[in-house]
Amino acid sequence: MKKDLLSLLDLEKADFEYLFDRALQLKKRYARGISDKILTGKTLGLIFDKKSTRTRIAFETAMIQLGGHPIYMSTKDTQISRNEPAKDTARVLSRYIDCLAMRTFDHDLVTEFARASSIPVINALTDFFHPCQILSDIMTIIEHKGGFQNIRIAWVGDGNNVANSWVNAASVLGLNLVAACPQDHMIKPEILQAAGADTLDHIRFTNDPVDAVKNADVVYTDVWASMGEEAELAHRLAAFEGFQVNKDLLAHAAPDVLVLHCLPAHRGEEIAEDVLEAAGAAFWDQAENKRHMHKAILEKLILG
Ligand code: CP
Ligand code: NVA
Repeated sequence: MKKDLLSLLDLEKADFEYLFDRALQLKKRYARGISDKILTGKTLGLIFDKKSTRTRIAFETAMIQLGGHPIYMSTKDTQISRNEPAKDTARVLSRYIDCLAMRTFDHDLVTEFARASSIPVINALTDFFHPCQILSDIMTIIEHKGGFQNIRIAWVGDGNNVANSWVNAASVLGLNLVAACPQDHMIKPEILQAAGADTLDHIRFTNDPVDAVKNADVVYTDVWASMGEEAELAHRLAAFEGFQVNKDLLAHAAPDVLVLHCLPAHRGEEIAEDVLEAAGAAFWDQAENKRHMHKAILEKLILG
């Protein structure tokens, strides 16, 4: 039976471990100049209803480097924008392509596509989740910290799609996660309940960024206004005061703290310029690892 990747709750711990090992292996092989044409003749469709630099290009280059072919479709150029039902588009595309990656606002739309498709559907970001991002981020943590067990991870910022996927990963992998969000921007109770994270003692929530960051091995942040929330920015700038990841906040973390950001970053808002530009910063490894992780995901879902 075909498998989808809509949320990290779709994966077992063993699936995560397989994907980390395989992505790290594919990265090493690529660096040695080995060409793994394992998806020759296969086609990936990409339906993107929101902007993207990293996720789109990482999926397209991953597919090309594996010998396959990507087809990018913006919703405004397809009959989707003229209200062709999702279930019809999904069934038609299933007759042409081998896998579909989707970036949408409404998470239910990706779920609807997955239900009607006979091919694997990958969530490339919705308002609820960004599963592929967290897979490649944990890969980056493994590279920089040697593993993810016993690593203290602090989320500082908005209780958004990326934070939700961190909660999902933490619940499946047993990660030690503390999330600091302003009271009005906490991760939603339904996300916590679905992940069983409201009862797990290795996942904790606070409104105090200093509390979250204390002795943290990894500090992660993301924009204060996600795509679709731009009109709320002025209000959010006030609500997130004190939540900027800067040198003062990082002074409370472990001395060798790894700072991560999924990017794009807003300098002077959720992250300080000097933190972003620090020598040896891992943000660019994070971005690169999306390509390697997407290869592992595509191979697993398309070839089974
Ligand atoms: N991190 C991330 O998903 O970036 P893009 O929006 O550029 O794809
Ligand atoms: N939370 C951000 C992530 C971008 C990769 C957004 O949804 O805009």
